[in-house]
Amino acid sequence: MGRLKDKLAQVLAGHRQELQNLLKSSGTKAVDQVTAEQIFSGARGIHSLLCDTSSVPPDKGLIIRGHPIAELTELFPEEIFYLLLTGEIPDKADVEEIRGEFSRRAAVPDYVWHVLDALPADSHPMCMLNTAILSMQRDSVFARKYEEGMPKDQYWEATLEDALNIIARMPAIAAWVYRKRFKKGPRLDGDASLDWAANYAHLLSVADMKGGFPSLMRLYMVLHCDHESGNVSAMTAATVNSALSDLYYSLSAGLNGLAGPLHGLANQECLTWLMETMKKYGGVPTVEQITRDAEETIAAKRVVPGYGHAVLRVTDPRFSAFVEFGKAHCADDPIFKSVLNVYEAVPKVLKKYPKIKNPWPNVDAASGALLAHYGLTEQRYYTVLFAVSRSLGICAQAILARGLGQPIIRPTSVTTSWLKKACS
Ligand SMILES: CC(C)(COP(=O)(O)OP(=O)(O)OC[C@H]1O[C@@H](n2cnc3c(N)ncnc32)[C@H](O)[C@@H]1OP(=O)(O)O)[C@@H](O)C(=O)NCCC(=O)NCCS
Repeated sequence: MGRLKDKLAQVLAGHRQELQNLLKSSGTKAVDQVTAEQIFSGARGIHSLLCDTSSVPPDKGLIIRGHPIAELTELFPEEIFYLLLTGEIPDKADVEEIRGEFSRRAAVPDYVWHVLDALPADSHPMCMLNTAILSMQRDSVFARKYEEGMPKDQYWEATLEDALNIIARMPAIAAWVYRKRFKKGPRLDGDASLDWAANYAHLLSVADMKGGFPSLMRLYMVLHCDHESGNVSAMTAATVNSALSDLYYSLSAGLNGLAGPLHGLANQECLTWLMETMKKYGGVPTVEQITRDAEETIAAKRVVPGYGHAVLRVTDPRFSAFVEFGKAHCADDPIFKSVLNVYEAVPKVLKKYPKIKNPWPNVDAASGALLAHYGLTEQRYYTVLFAVSRSLGICAQAILARGLGQPIIRPTSVTTSWLKKACS
């Protein structure tokens, strides 16, 4: 891991110095203000976390290290991981090193399979994935070295070790969660000649490797990799990791947040909503039919899944990237056609409700249709795919946070009477 480690050591040294200088010259400068409303709205919009892997401007969507996500859709996840960590697109030798590390570390300990065997057969796939990750905590390099008295300036290296081990094992674990949970046959062996995402596609074995499925998996793994650090999963993982709980603890904690229907589980809900609509109308629903259904959904005090966002105020560029993929690979697929009709209908409906701040689709609105096209129709599994990808960003954020010597996260809560007094 010489190249990545050397590069990171250099990047982190410069970054640490830059932050130290900034804090020394301007550490007490006010950079934001907080309203009472924000305190009661899930801390929405308060600038209080440091994250350099990516940013999400409301009017642009995901930007990774200065590159809009639309410009990164041809990259491999290995390249994205390097970019998240270092801020640079890797060269061929860097990619080969990361790919080699993932493949060298890919073997999953047998006890993980036993742990999965012990879970009830109808467990949610996200529960299975997170339990498997947590069960490997005994292998944490960070935890072992910490017990041995590791100095603080080595925290990031031990976190990098844990990250590489977890990410390397993730495709085999996640693929087995799928095959076991949905009775798809025996566990398959990985193929070391494939890249990380294509190997995951191979291990899932839902579609012919010669078709578009491996490309979809690459795109999926790239598009979901990171979304700055204020979202539920990233913030949870960062908070837990800041207590120096290792990545096995912190990543699984964050991914448990991803399992919520307002966060990562929305992609499962999207296809369910779409399929129900298709079933009701016996095929691709018209824009008028979808409009009526969306209105009924809101009247029933339910959300239209895949639409709206806590930060974004435009169509999610990740949604657009999936739509482009769909147009190129499965334009005539009825589910994909339905996605396009939903896109035409739903924003117009949501715009009628002033309280809904963003009527536009998010990343989850199109991905399920593409997965279903290739035969991955088990919606309950979809958040696992999201989780495998998001591990790249969560791990990168943890490595950088430990490398910058960020302290334990500990904001202050206020009581309602404090708030009343502050407002008066
Ligand atoms: C993503 C989401 C949780 C953001 O929540 P938020 O930041 O509170 O969004 P808003 O400020 O626009 O919400 C204001 C109101 O509009 C509602 N709203 C937002 N998006 C909506 C949608 N797609 N359908 C119906 N109502 C919606 C909210 O439920 C909220 O209602 P309330 O005041 O009665 O509780 C929300 O848009 C949502 O639930 N979307 C559907 C689920 C989804 O796609 N999640 C994946 C996110 S990547």
